[in-house]
Amino acid sequence: MKSIVVANWKMNPATFKEAKKLFEATRKAAESAKNVAIVVAPPAIFLRELSVGYKGKRLSFAVQNAHYEAGGAFTGEVSMSEARDAKCSSVIIGHAERRGMGESNEDTRKKVAVALAIGLTPVLCVGERTRSQSGEHFEFVREQLVAGFADVPPAKIPRVVIAYEPVWAIGAERPMNARDMHEMAIFIRKTIVDRYGQGGMNLKILYGGSIDESNAGEMMRNGDVNGLLVGRVSTDAAKFTALVSVLDAL
Ligand code: PGA
Repeated sequence: MKSIVVANWKMNPATFKEAKKLFEATRKAAESAKNVAIVVAPPAIFLRELSVGYKGKRLSFAVQNAHYEAGGAFTGEVSMSEARDAKCSSVIIGHAERRGMGESNEDTRKKVAVALAIGLTPVLCVGERTRSQSGEHFEFVREQLVAGFADVPPAKIPRVVIAYEPVWAIGAERPMNARDMHEMAIFIRKTIVDRYGQGGMNLKILYGGSIDESNAGEMMRNGDVNGLLVGRVSTDAAKFTALVSVLDAL
């Protein structure tokens, strides 16, 4: 199965000129990597122009956030149908940085359901802020998962992609240990299966947090994940190209 790489550009780069250059490098990396499915998530204001200009099939687009309402008085927001109209096929939901700005489990519950209903793939981000010996982080992640999936029809469970991103490993020096990720992947599937049924066995799980070309292979081999969500490295053309070729060679 192809590895998935979500390139989360966050609020970068500063100009559309730079965005076009970065996209060109991303497109090249995607086109030379048959075994990797790349999902690019540029800032919403750049997205449409990049996506309509792209004629290939190797990569797809995601919006970094979208509102659950179909339209109306929500200044500064983008709707899921607007994202779909801009040729997005996925939407990132509940990224740690958005949760930090106030997005709640209740918001993610609504967003995941709306995304599925209109045909976007929800990439639901979960992850604890800190870890403790007593394992409270498992309970924290369980609550995020239970809420996020609460309105998902059983048949659609496998269409949700989970991005597990421990907040302490985002923007950090190194990622989580791959064996700990493996343990978390088992926990994530078990949580969904126990609560919502067998569809949980077929979930795709990504890891995110300080992934680069030097640690991506180890995470893919031993982390029990289907792919990676990449922040900083996705806006560095050379490093991103190196990362994609590591995954392509697995
Ligand atoms: P990072 O970000 O790769 O820069 O750690 C990951 C993320 O926040 O998605």
